[in-house]
Amino acid sequence: MLKLSEAAVAQINKICDRYADEPTPLIMILEDIQKEYGYIPLEVQEIVSAKTGISVAEIYGVVTFYSFFSLKPKGKYVIGCCLGTACYVKGAQRVIDKFSELLGIKPGGTTEDGMFTIDALRCIGACSIAPAVTINGKVYPKVDVKDIPGIIAEYRKAGGAE
Ligand code: FES
Repeated sequence: MLKLSEAAVAQINKICDRYADEPTPLIMILEDIQKEYGYIPLEVQEIVSAKTGISVAEIYGVVTFYSFFSLKPKGKYVIGCCLGTACYVKGAQRVIDKFSELLGIKPGGTTEDGMFTIDALRCIGACSIAPAVTINGKVYPKVDVKDIPGIIAEYRKAGGAE
């Protein structure tokens, strides 16, 4: 079970305080926590609940509804495959299936070495370059399944070189 340090608890409370005057602060609080820690486990949701008075059930509902939020730590490289309509008709399912096959994980999963997470996304606003993939914010246009081994190798090399 996760045991949060006092400093982490204080930081989460501080993030909640940032939005104390907002009428609907939850999304902003969770965005900041996600950015700072990379995920929002139940223990963190309980702290947010105690601080804001918003129920854990409501917080959990928001965390699990939006793909940007995660209950578990994500990999070093987060591969976002758009499955919106424009990307879907251009073969996005084949693209995400290929990433899954080569990395041995399902969408939403993270490789055991903590290197890669695959996320299925809704439209990311790049329909003209469908099918689109993002990796830690870098956009890959018109991705073809034959490009995918090279894309993965690029990140394995970068990750291993550190
Ligand atoms: S549907 Fe994929 S970017 Fe719009």
